[in-house]
Amino acid sequence: MLSGKRVLLIIGGGIAAFKSLDLIRRLREQGATVVPVLTKAAEEFVTPLSTSALAAEKVYRDLFDLTDEAEMGHIELSRAADLVVVAPATADLLGKMANGLANDLASTLLMATDKRVLVAPAMNVRMWEHPANQRNVATLRGDGVLFIGPDEGEMACGEFGPGRMSEVPEIVGAVIAALADGPLRGKHVVVTSGPTHEPIDPVRYIANRSSGAQGTAIARALSALGAEVTFVTGPADIAPPAGVRVVRVQTARQMLEAVQGALPADAAVFAAAVADWHVANESGRKMKKTREGLPVLEFAENPDILATVSQMGQGRPGLVVGFAAETDDVIAHATAKRDRKGCDWIVANDVSPATGIMGGSENAVTVISGDGAEDWPRMSKDQVAARLAAKIAEALT
Ligand code: C5P
Repeated sequence: MLSGKRVLLIIGGGIAAFKSLDLIRRLREQGATVVPVLTKAAEEFVTPLSTSALAAEKVYRDLFDLTDEAEMGHIELSRAADLVVVAPATADLLGKMANGLANDLASTLLMATDKRVLVAPAMNVRMWEHPANQRNVATLRGDGVLFIGPDEGEMACGEFGPGRMSEVPEIVGAVIAALADGPLRGKHVVVTSGPTHEPIDPVRYIANRSSGAQGTAIARALSALGAEVTFVTGPADIAPPAGVRVVRVQTARQMLEAVQGALPADAAVFAAAVADWHVANESGRKMKKTREGLPVLEFAENPDILATVSQMGQGRPGLVVGFAAETDDVIAHATAKRDRKGCDWIVANDVSPATGIMGGSENAVTVISGDGAEDWPRMSKDQVAARLAAKIAEALT
């Protein structure tokens, strides 16, 4: 996937630097040449010798190394690459990048490059959430810097939350996506997928049978066309695709919040099977069998994410796509749904049991837009995803 590609890998000084050694191997497995650069702090975590041995390349460390300047200057080093990857990207490195500081080799290369930059942040959760860091992240996103992660989880420092560097396969996927020469390069697309879980008490919940297959395929297809994808997923059966920013949620309310947090976006595709209601009288403790009779659940309506985003004034994505699973009068119901929700397209499918579509690997859809209804033949969910991604690319470019 990456043969002939040259990746300049800047390794920052964080505990996650040990994962970057594996990243070098995995990128090389894909056929890439990896030219490593170590910051001073990175050398506290990994050695130049192991880095260079795994890359089978010279490792660059010092801005004022005259040999390097004679062989290859820092300007050339930054430009000879097809992609610059910073992993781990520490708070310090992000701060330098956002503010245009260039006081060592890594930061100088980052300022001198004319190539895309992909960063994999790794830091303590409080540092990640600090307003100064969040300002830097917003600035860098605005500058077109690509982000993969950080993930949520337990950190080396013992705290829990966002700040862990993404796992190596995800970073490799992001590198592949960043180098994909597709029509959606530079476009940000939000995709929702999977079911939602609406809690009844701490151990029980209401769910649905969505596998997340179609949403996952769409995210993968968009990413393959070069889009930067934020994938907001409920608890689905299948793993999210590599190379996309994954935000995991449980409930519809969390899904709305995650989608709003991911905006601005050029397009949004709402493929999730969102529960219509949540339990209003959710119990903080596990409900017990009692002699007094059966528990009574009270329901409250969930926010409609598709309608909310479709109807937002300023900041609405340029293209909003919803889904409609119907069992009868598919086109009439889906057309009415498009009008009611205010989205641009509805991808409608007939999920009556005879079709075998629900839970199956195939889909037969009708795409309803302002131009009318377009029937697509029955095909695999991956093919539906590829065709939809191509149609989105056509609309956005
Ligand atoms: O109203 P209905 O559930 O049939 O609409 C389906 C479409 O609306 C899908 O695109 C689904 O992802 C979206 N939806 C949503 N939030 C809800 C309910 C549905 O985004 N609460």
